[in-house]
Amino acid sequence: MKAIVLSRYGKTDTLSLEEKVIPQPKEGEVLVKVHATSVNDFDWQIMCGKPFITRLVSGILKPKIDVLGAEIAGTVESVGQGVASFVVGDRVFGDVSNSGFGGFAEYTSVSQNALRNMPNLMTFQQAVSLPHASLLAWQGLVDLGKIKQGDNVLINGAGGGVGVFALQIAKVFGCEVTGVDHALKLDFMTGLGFDHVIDYQKTDFTAEAKRYDLILDVKTNRAPSRYLRTLNVPGHYVTVGGDTPRLLQIALFGRLFTKKKGKRLSVLALKPNKGLEHINEMFENGSLNTHIEGPFSLEDIPREMARFGRGEHRGKIVINVV
Ligand SMILES: NC(=O)c1ccc[n+]([C@@H]2O[C@H](COP(=O)([O-])OP(=O)(O)OC[C@H]3O[C@@H](n4cnc5c(N)ncnc54)[C@H](OP(=O)(O)O)[C@@H]3O)[C@@H](O)[C@H]2O)c1
Repeated sequence: MKAIVLSRYGKTDTLSLEEKVIPQPKEGEVLVKVHATSVNDFDWQIMCGKPFITRLVSGILKPKIDVLGAEIAGTVESVGQGVASFVVGDRVFGDVSNSGFGGFAEYTSVSQNALRNMPNLMTFQQAVSLPHASLLAWQGLVDLGKIKQGDNVLINGAGGGVGVFALQIAKVFGCEVTGVDHALKLDFMTGLGFDHVIDYQKTDFTAEAKRYDLILDVKTNRAPSRYLRTLNVPGHYVTVGGDTPRLLQIALFGRLFTKKKGKRLSVLALKPNKGLEHINEMFENGSLNTHIEGPFSLEDIPREMARFGRGEHRGKIVINVV
């Protein structure tokens, strides 16, 4: 099979198209013929080996994962012993980052727990754009943020993968939604349905008078006190990512601020695929759209990874594999 193989930590010249043996599914695993994969932050960080903390999982000196690709959509080719939930030919998708990655190849064998059945009307390209970003948004707003009907919500880093799903979820809850991002993305965001947009290079939302019930942040880069002052009472700030020292501050000391005047600061740890049934339901009832760039081909992955690293993408970069 064809695969894009990662040889060492570094830039996109560490990725090359190679022939590999098709894996055999072990007990509890499913061999998936990969129809589509995507480019993700996880892939980027493991390729670069940065931030260094990533290497605690992916290997200190050399990456343990040789085929990246955290999200897949495809068909079941065969199943290992003990697999009862899937049969050959099923259309499946999922976040396989807890199952050894492997989406940048024509076949990958992953734990059955990493897969879900695709809704009938969903394409492979749509499916592969969902698990990671939509669930960061769902788990951040709903599971951790406990979003309520009519909340005043702010999304920081709103024009990227997570932000566009977060908007759609917040709208299902009838919320007023403000999005913060680069000036070049504000028209795109207004078109998607944000009620207010803010250019992060011109305006610091934490210095403004407006307060929010719930903030979802994909780009945390300020002191916790800045976020606390931007919250209503009660109010909740949930971060899904950003500068490592700031995230550690919130993770380690967030509880000290917690409940202070009814305000909370939390860091989300993504639980892969948890809640995908809600995303499927939103897709089926027409309240969730996907925003895809591509599809590109397997050979294009190094170029698309480079574009992702430069932040030039709008929506999810999708790769057609077979
Ligand atoms: N918590 C977990 O378990 C977990 C797991 C996986 C990933 N993550 C995190 O989830 C996040 C993924 O987000 P995503 O896919 O939505 O990223 P994305 O597609 O790269 O979008 C991020 C957006 O933020 C904008 N931005 C950059 N700097 C900003 C600033 N200072 N203020 C406001 N906006 C800014 C970017 O625009 P420009 O760059 O064009 O300016 C871009 O539009 C990452 O932080 C990742 O580390 C978390």
